[in-house]
Amino acid sequence: MNKLPIITLDGPAGVGKSTLAKRVAKILKIPYLDTGAMFRTVAMRLGPGAEKLASPDLLARCMDFRFRLKGTGEDTILLCNEIPIGREIRTEYVGQLAARLATVTTVREYLKGAQRKLGESTSLVVEGRDMGTVIFPGARFKFFLDASPDVRALRRFRELEARGEQADLAQLTEMILRRDHLDRSRPVAPLCPADDAVIIDTSNLDIDGVLKAILEVVSSPQEGIDAAIHDPETSILQLADKPQKEVKPRESTAECTVHGDNFSHLKADGSLRMVDVAEKTVSDRVAMARAVVEVNRETLNMLQARALPKGDVLVTAQVAGIMAAKRTSELIPLCHSVPLTFVDIRFKVEDCPPRISIESETRTNARTGVEMEALVAVQVAAATLYDMCKAIQRDIVIRDVRLVFKSGGRSGTFDLRDTEEQA
Ligand code: DC
Repeated sequence: MNKLPIITLDGPAGVGKSTLAKRVAKILKIPYLDTGAMFRTVAMRLGPGAEKLASPDLLARCMDFRFRLKGTGEDTILLCNEIPIGREIRTEYVGQLAARLATVTTVREYLKGAQRKLGESTSLVVEGRDMGTVIFPGARFKFFLDASPDVRALRRFRELEARGEQADLAQLTEMILRRDHLDRSRPVAPLCPADDAVIIDTSNLDIDGVLKAILEVVSSPQEGIDAAIHDPETSILQLADKPQKEVKPRESTAECTVHGDNFSHLKADGSLRMVDVAEKTVSDRVAMARAVVEVNRETLNMLQARALPKGDVLVTAQVAGIMAAKRTSELIPLCHSVPLTFVDIRFKVEDCPPRISIESETRTNARTGVEMEALVAVQVAAATLYDMCKAIQRDIVIRDVRLVFKSGGRSGTFDLRDTEEQA
């Protein structure tokens, strides 16, 4: 637990974190830290491709960047090597460079040290992607702000329009989706809410509405920051003497609790029920599943030569997998019908041993996940491979069907892809 109150605001690109961090910092008379600006500065100065540098070189280059905060409230200035960071980092191009560099552990570790140091001697409103989960896990107040990509893109569109700048809504949505994917799917410190974060869906709130929601938590009588908000003479630093309190953890809404009586697919009398997901937050969700189809050498050769009697096996299996993903809710009894935004089926044809590895990927922006869609897709693609090859080999084996990745939703990210590849 940090000695001085730290308030973390995490969330995806374009959700309004920077504006809110400034407003909260102004009210509390404390500095704010935009950690995205740190990633952007390093990415811009190192240039494209920096993520490919060898780790010791990259660390040596990172160590050239020294960060310091000056001032408080909206007048807080972030300096890099004593020079204030300016608007030059605020382009989408630099944002994408930063998102790529942010996947590298060396860079994250270096900036983790710098970010923690900045929060060591002062109260801070700090915004980013992993503030509540990794950088300040003991923070007194944690918020996770969310909104659908469409809403975020529309806000950005209106902002640009108001400034008289030209904008293309479809392109803005595409950029937001690309950045979300990078931020949420990276194996190291991916964007996800901390277990004890207060999640605020900002889709139907303006900045004042979100600010009000944050201040309600921060100034609740039992939390003890009300004096600082209501009495401008009170210094927030005095609050450090008050006992630190945990933010009440969110209730667990895991879909299926596997202990006690809490199987959420079962009612008290043991009959079935579909989980009502209306209260869940809409978020970007991704799932990936894999399966392996073991064939003999002759089948593999014919498949590679496209000489199988039924035609192009992989194309047919790919289409079958995509179509199956879309029908999952009709096949799995308690599965919700989810608006899929993307389905892909990928193949790896391996010579030794002869086999075809299949990977499915499903995506949505919804209140519930798409793991079942990924699992159904990969299995139907595998069964289609069997169907296309069975005329020449009956004993084909389908094995190792499993989920290897999921992100989004309250349970956070699950990622077995690397361990699988090593297996
Ligand atoms: O918040 P922003 O758009 O300025 O951030 C730019 C990128 O930097 C973002 O896409 C991912 C990365 N980032 C991060 O990985 N962790 C943070 N705490 C802040 C930003």
